[in-house]
Amino acid sequence: MDNSGTLDSLAQELRVFRPLPQLVIEANVNPQELEAFRRQAAHDPLGYWEEAADELDWYKKWDRVLDDSDAPFCRWFPGARCNIVYNCLDRHIETANKNKLALIWEGEPGDSRKYTYYELYREVNRFAGALRTLGVKKGECVIIYMPPLPEAVIAMLACARIGAPHSLVFAGFSARALRQRIKDVEAKLVVTADGFYRNGQIIKLKPVVDEALVGGSADCVDSVVVVHRAKVDTDMQEGRDYWYDDVVRRERPESPAEVMDANDTLFLLHTSGATGAPKVVSHCHGGYMVGVHRTLTHVFDIKPTDIFWCTADLGWITGHSAVVYGPLLAGTTTLIYEGHPNYPQADRMWHIVSKYGVTIFYTAPTLIRMLMRFGPQYPRMHDLSTLRLLGTVGEPIGPETWLWFYRHIGRGECPLLDTWWQTETGMFMISPLPISLLKPGSVTKPLPGVEVDVVDREGASVPPGKGGLLVITRPWPAMMTGVFDPSAKAGGAGRERFAESFARFPGKYLAGDVAKRDEDGFLWIEGRADDVLNIAGHRLGTAELENAFRAHPAVAEAAIIGVPDKIKGEAAKAFIILNQGVAPSDELILELQNHMRKELGPVAVIKGVEFRDSLPRTRSGKILRRVLKAQETGESPGDLSMLEDAD
Ligand code: WT7
Repeated sequence: MDNSGTLDSLAQELRVFRPLPQLVIEANVNPQELEAFRRQAAHDPLGYWEEAADELDWYKKWDRVLDDSDAPFCRWFPGARCNIVYNCLDRHIETANKNKLALIWEGEPGDSRKYTYYELYREVNRFAGALRTLGVKKGECVIIYMPPLPEAVIAMLACARIGAPHSLVFAGFSARALRQRIKDVEAKLVVTADGFYRNGQIIKLKPVVDEALVGGSADCVDSVVVVHRAKVDTDMQEGRDYWYDDVVRRERPESPAEVMDANDTLFLLHTSGATGAPKVVSHCHGGYMVGVHRTLTHVFDIKPTDIFWCTADLGWITGHSAVVYGPLLAGTTTLIYEGHPNYPQADRMWHIVSKYGVTIFYTAPTLIRMLMRFGPQYPRMHDLSTLRLLGTVGEPIGPETWLWFYRHIGRGECPLLDTWWQTETGMFMISPLPISLLKPGSVTKPLPGVEVDVVDREGASVPPGKGGLLVITRPWPAMMTGVFDPSAKAGGAGRERFAESFARFPGKYLAGDVAKRDEDGFLWIEGRADDVLNIAGHRLGTAELENAFRAHPAVAEAAIIGVPDKIKGEAAKAFIILNQGVAPSDELILELQNHMRKELGPVAVIKGVEFRDSLPRTRSGKILRRVLKAQETGESPGDLSMLEDAD
């Protein structure tokens, strides 16, 4: 990269970074090829995605590429049959990849395990057999509530192999949140661990599952499989709970992959929407596999010798597409780490990069901001010369963090790929390739086959330099296949919640972000436009947080806004009206923060609580969060008004 400019000055969003000539020569997709892909995709998008699909193995090919006769509900590759796990594992063991590392795991205490493609294949088959033995059938859902352990990856792949949709719940969620999620998807089985290491301590996990299932409160669950990680005392309920090692020991290392319809569900994932309770998003075997494979191999320029480390927890979409499915489809080596990024000190991430020779490091701005605080002496303690590409996702990175990451981790030589996408999109949507020109803080341009626009409230494209709503204007293969509102299961709410995103501008998917395009057509993401907070790259709905607050006996009314946070990007601030007769106090604030932890788990970080006698409202009684936000940040309240009701 051209790093001749002064990296110290930060007022340089305008500076363009170019890839080193050697990198352009070696790239899988060079600038001419990228242009050709773009032209092909613009002219014949279905042909473009069909070629991408042809790179994978299918039991039966599609009748057509896209059925959009029931738009916005799309079916990609209708008539096709496949199994994503066949493409992640079976396909590779027929090739020279058989004995290549598929998975490297580093435990927080420094222990480590490695699986070749063949070993992972055998282990996944064993667990797939165990799931079948325990009575899990095609179409029945399995909850995976686990820390980053190899068995979590194995469980995901084993579920997919037998056609049982998996649903991961981040281990930072509380028993109550877990119970709700189990019930939402009517899970038959839960996979968990006795506990895990985090920041030098053992966190027990199995008791949280016991609490979630207490007294048959989620009686859809027949069995719980427990991985013996922390070796702590664990209560096991006879007839319900099984040790992982016991159930796999008796299984054979061969277990055929279920032949799935391309549109059969691969997984379900909860995420926060603009309204109400979290929604459940589903992805399928076929289109998801095609979209993720094509975009990940393009963006990260996967080479046979790569060691790919995406630091996301498995419980988010990033963990699905960029830790498990994408890297394994691409036949590369994926790395997972169990513990805290600062344990035992602030160089742990860099120690892991040098220990395994990581070549691609993909993370979130919040992690970089946290590590930046400790200074560049920590990365300097290690040899980071194996790194060739950096990536970021989850929230706007901003030029300052971009430049620190680029210089201190990437030596000013590694392209920094800022990828924009979502749980709903499944695959990367807007991102540079290693050969692209980069502007610090810009996600650059949509990938070939992806079409986006920035529009005003009437849906008309806005000119360069003006902010607007980001929309996706054409279907893409990894798009969600369903969005369910679990709280309203009766009455076809799944279709409504899906259609919600296409309702405002017919035919266009409303992403929920504010964005702007510059004179060169580069896109800049400015943040969420709706009532969704992005705390350290994790989505939390204001409605969800407010409901949890209201469940406390002292609280009459609650309004949540996002406020800027140096490390987390955004944090939640609560405005609370107390019930008559309840006196505000510091103890009450602490109690409310603990209450939120219990309701939702440590993911719900409440930065401030302020007591009010009243809250600003519309005439129809809706709380005007943007007014609170304007009071808090001093911004004009009109800024984010685009999604508010006219009244
Ligand atoms: C929201 C989606 C996809 C993995 C992580 C989050 C924000 C995502 C970027 C980026 C600026 C970004 C958006 C988006 N976001 N990537 N590169 N730059 N903002 O997935 O939980 O579904 O959240 O994350 O606001 O809408 P998610």
